[in-house]
Amino acid sequence: MKCTVKACSNLALIKYWGNVDPYWHIPTNDSISVSLGSLQSTTTLEFGSDYSDECYLNEKLISGEGYDRIKFLLQHFRKFTDFHDPVLMQSVNNFPTAAGIASSASGFGALAHVLYEASGFEYTEKDVSKLARLGSGSAARTIYPGYAHWLKGIDHDSSFAIKIKDPDEMRVIVSITEKSAKPVSSFEAMELSKDLSPFFAQKAEHSTNHIPQMIEALANDDFSTIGDIAQKEANNLHAVINTTGLGISYWNVGTLEIMKFVNLLRESGTEAYYTIDAGPQVKILCLPKDESGIIQELEELHYIKDIISSKVGYGSHVVSSHLF
Ligand code: PMV
Repeated sequence: MKCTVKACSNLALIKYWGNVDPYWHIPTNDSISVSLGSLQSTTTLEFGSDYSDECYLNEKLISGEGYDRIKFLLQHFRKFTDFHDPVLMQSVNNFPTAAGIASSASGFGALAHVLYEASGFEYTEKDVSKLARLGSGSAARTIYPGYAHWLKGIDHDSSFAIKIKDPDEMRVIVSITEKSAKPVSSFEAMELSKDLSPFFAQKAEHSTNHIPQMIEALANDDFSTIGDIAQKEANNLHAVINTTGLGISYWNVGTLEIMKFVNLLRESGTEAYYTIDAGPQVKILCLPKDESGIIQELEELHYIKDIISSKVGYGSHVVSSHLF
């Protein structure tokens, strides 16, 4: 059967960075994310004996490392389900790919979900989360609307995400400073920094301590604490990435300009916080009343290439219109 799934990208408020077991993507610490409603991957997949696992992203045949990751996920899906037919897959992102706005999270989340759905195999959200994790760790959190908590677990069966809160009114302004793909993949950078950064273990310890604090802040709609922890997590993450001794850094001049801008906003009374993943884009967390004012000021900055503002998004779901 042909099926299509739409999935939102997600933004980590508590960051995943590094694996106890890199093969299965069993992370060093738990993480928490918010779904980004404006950033979507749509994926159509069909099983058929005439196909040979051809996969397209934005109308281009996927090859190289991206295809290896898809093959890895497919290989395990076949082992888990005993469903061996080849597939044809087409996927589109409505935002820049592999530039640090978690296209792998929405892409692999959509792929895992559409595989189960198109196969007709009985499945749970937990099955989708575990399978998505094999493509990209952060994809484990994509199936859920609102806020998700990835429980690190100790093996494939125990490492999956759960939903912790429905969408609320928070806004995320994605400030794009560079549209091309990042030079070092997050997986490669996290494995290198695990071995080389002197701050890797401290970051993981802080993240573990931040988890119950973030869960409490979300339950209380305590935006100040949510933002404060998210910004600290971003600073800790990049302290690790920037200290491998190999010159790896995802920041550019625009990243620094926006980080400063957000700190100045807060000093002048507008509550806003930044967070940054493995890329140069800065995501600004704010309340709906401040959204348009912040966007107006951002547009004046020197290094801004694009701005995408997002509400908290929905979980991955099946849709009826197909890409082929
Ligand atoms: O899922 P990956 O391998 O793309 O790694 C994601 C890493 C961060 O985005 C920096 C953090 C996170 O938790 O999403």
